[in-house]
Amino acid sequence: NIPEEVKIKEVGPRDGLQNEPEIIPTEEKINWINALSNTGISYIEISSFVHPKWIPQLSDAFEVGRGIIRNPNVTYAALVPNSKGLERALAVGIDEVSVFMSASETHNKKNINKSIADTFPVLKEVAETAKQEGKTVRGYVSTVFGCPYEGDISFNKLLNICDKLFEMGIEELSLGDTVGVADPLQVSRLIKDLSDRYSAQKFALHFHDTRGTAMANVLAAMLEGINTFDASLGGLGGCPYAKGASGNLATDDLVYMLHQMNVNTGVNHHKLIEAAKLIQRSLAKSLPSRQMQLISHE
Ligand code: HMG
Ligand code: MG
Repeated sequence: NIPEEVKIKEVGPRDGLQNEPEIIPTEEKINWINALSNTGISYIEISSFVHPKWIPQLSDAFEVGRGIIRNPNVTYAALVPNSKGLERALAVGIDEVSVFMSASETHNKKNINKSIADTFPVLKEVAETAKQEGKTVRGYVSTVFGCPYEGDISFNKLLNICDKLFEMGIEELSLGDTVGVADPLQVSRLIKDLSDRYSAQKFALHFHDTRGTAMANVLAAMLEGINTFDASLGGLGGCPYAKGASGNLATDDLVYMLHQMNVNTGVNHHKLIEAAKLIQRSLAKSLPSRQMQLISHE
């Protein structure tokens, strides 16, 4: 059995652009997010309120947040690493705040400059304040399926992180295959194991397609009851602080597959492709997704 409906969370404007060598003009990001807002997608991660020195590509998060035309049917979210980032996110009236950390000590340190133990109080403060401000809070755990520095991640370590984040009142946890090493059997095993403690509805899966396994992993996750996936239009993406990280699962390819299987996404595939062409023009390179490659050969 697979879910009849899948919710797609578009992370391209954040995860996609953070790894591009080019810095896209703010106006073009805004136009792209506006186009995405009219595709039927119900969730867009628009940027990241991290330190601008760490991710210069997203240093205009405030201007982007202020500049977009909000569609009331869309939840607009952003990454927030700490209270300083939260202040900036609240100032643009973000709908949902996404805190993030890694299941790997080394990746956590490289990515947010702290040990895992020192990260919890920082995220807790963000989550508590965000909730007091009426925001929902999402959590990300990176390198769940393997770390480029540490290799395998123990299940108990992951479970402990999940417990801590859910205790903070995080509504949904996105499990990240940061460097795209997961395989479908590993995915189903992990979800089964987590299901002993938490409902599958508490999790989203966030696949990078570095080794071509992302779509197979989606199907494996759906068969275990997961119905929320992060994806990036055109297959852009990657974490600059994870060696070897590359593009996310492509939203356009995912929507194609789901619609072929009669799984409802609420997204208009044609409008999605039109939005992808916009960002393709800005980046002046062809996007890696299969759908965009197909078009480029037409
Ligand atoms: P730090 O240097 O340890 O920060 O960086 P700090 O708290 O020591 O502060 C140092 C200075 O930075 C201070 O300024 C702060 O005010 C300022 P000073 O007093 O010296 O003038 N500062 C800030 N300024 C603006 N906005 C802020 C902010 N915070 C501090 N938010 C920090 C720690 C977390 C900020 C830094 O490491 C950082 O920004 N890291 C972000 C890295 C990142 O964005 N990585 C990619 C996203 S994660 C990912 O891609 C994975 C994911 O996709 C899932 C998956 O695929 O697995 C989510
Ligand atoms: Mg990612």
